[in-house]
Amino acid sequence: MKRLILALDVYERERALEIAECTADYLWAVKVNWPLIIGSGLGIITELRQVTGLPVIADLKLADIPNTNRLIARKVFDAGADYIIAHGFVGREGVNAIMELGETIIVVEMSHPGAEEFIQPATDKLIELANELEPFGVIAPATRPERVAYIRSKLKPGIKILTPGVGAQGGKAGEVLKAGADYVIVGRSIYASENPREAARNLHREIAGV
Ligand code: C5P
Repeated sequence: MKRLILALDVYERERALEIAECTADYLWAVKVNWPLIIGSGLGIITELRQVTGLPVIADLKLADIPNTNRLIARKVFDAGADYIIAHGFVGREGVNAIMELGETIIVVEMSHPGAEEFIQPATDKLIELANELEPFGVIAPATRPERVAYIRSKLKPGIKILTPGVGAQGGKAGEVLKAGADYVIVGRSIYASENPREAARNLHREIAGV
């Protein structure tokens, strides 16, 4: 089973397609964030799907009023995104507006040090929201495996946990999967390495051995 998600945070269309194509064998999905969408346009989602045949996750961390979330989500799902990542702190209507249109992933905690300021104190409530709405999954920090284990213990079993923060931010794929994550999200350790295919293959093997 493939459990690796590539965070494709480059600007250039051709570079993005090249990296996605050469790593696709080892990936479950490709994640696009604002840098790539701003650099290459929304059409990159359609192209990535065509080139890799993999699901595409649009990591927009949507956090707006329900109507604006809906307007954005419609265009992004129309472009071919399979999943959209959204913030839950805007309230259930904001998340629901996206869930009505397609598969959604809710951020319940972030991976950077600043997550301790505002997001972590709200994590319990965000888990409750996820348990109520039952999205495809939640985002939890690979940089804090103990928090992933905590989130897994509170989250309904069918809801997936996707964890960014492996590699460049210090998280270890094996540790976070053992803690209960379903997927690991890796960006710089793959796309900024000299040989992205080899980097993805090594991570894939490490994950398979867990
Ligand atoms: O390069 P790196 O592996 O650190 O990339 C991590 C990716 O996951 C980036 O796209 C980042 O925006 C995203 N992300 C994160 N922490 C979160 C949510 C998303 O690092 N809590």
